Amino acid sequence: TMTTPHTIAIDGPAASGKSTLGKLLADHFGYIYFDTGVLYRALTYVALEQAVDLADAAALAKLAQTSNFEVLPPTIADGRQYTVLANGEDITWPLRAANVERNVSQVAAQPAVREALRDIQRHIGKSGNVVMAGRDIGAVIMPDAQLKIYLDASVEERAQRRAQELNARGRSISYREVLDDLNRRDAKDAANTFLADDAITITTDGRSPEEVFQAILSVIGVEAQA
Ligand code: DC
Repeated sequence: TMTTPHTIAIDGPAASGKSTLGKLLADHFGYIYFDTGVLYRALTYVALEQAVDLADAAALAKLAQTSNFEVLPPTIADGRQYTVLANGEDITWPLRAANVERNVSQVAAQPAVREALRDIQRHIGKSGNVVMAGRDIGAVIMPDAQLKIYLDASVEERAQRRAQELNARGRSISYREVLDDLNRRDAKDAANTFLADDAITITTDGRSPEEVFQAILSVIGVEAQA
């Protein structure tokens, strides 16, 4: 049992359930939910748009510093959980498109990019009452987070979930393709994905988001409210 944590870090690989759990926890406690992958995706989107060389770390870092990324409550009721603006342009759905998905790991792998996006994330963390999800939140961005969760799941389970999610959104993509993409992304993201020493690890294979949420609440020692 612990006192209610005001800063919660959720890390883990792609499609491990971080967003779903993050939103459940944020809603439960009345905190903001911040999905840090959005920043790496937004930068990738703008770089592709402006034809910036994705291997040019200095150019990407400069682009990160000169771009204005905003994450707002949903501005349109079309199933989105938040609205993302890059220099005023609504890029909420383009962030999930295949060209961003294929290139974001390369962008996120560059230390200069990570450094350029670090302060924005730390600033949001400092405000407290926040659930922040990503890869390096508990280890690098918010090492003082009061609760650190590492969500894991087999790549097969993650591919199954992601394929379902994409198909539900109207993108026709096979399980096999999603599995291959995830394996490629896992390999590229591995160097920047950290299991913090003091994190609670939860493997979500065969467990519903609600079960995972309840498991976390019982670790915290808070009664679940229906
Ligand atoms: O969680 P996601 O799929 O939206 O993340 C997009 C990319 O950004 C992914 O390749 C990993 C990277 N990322 C990262 O390196 N560190 C974070 N804190 C969050 C995301």
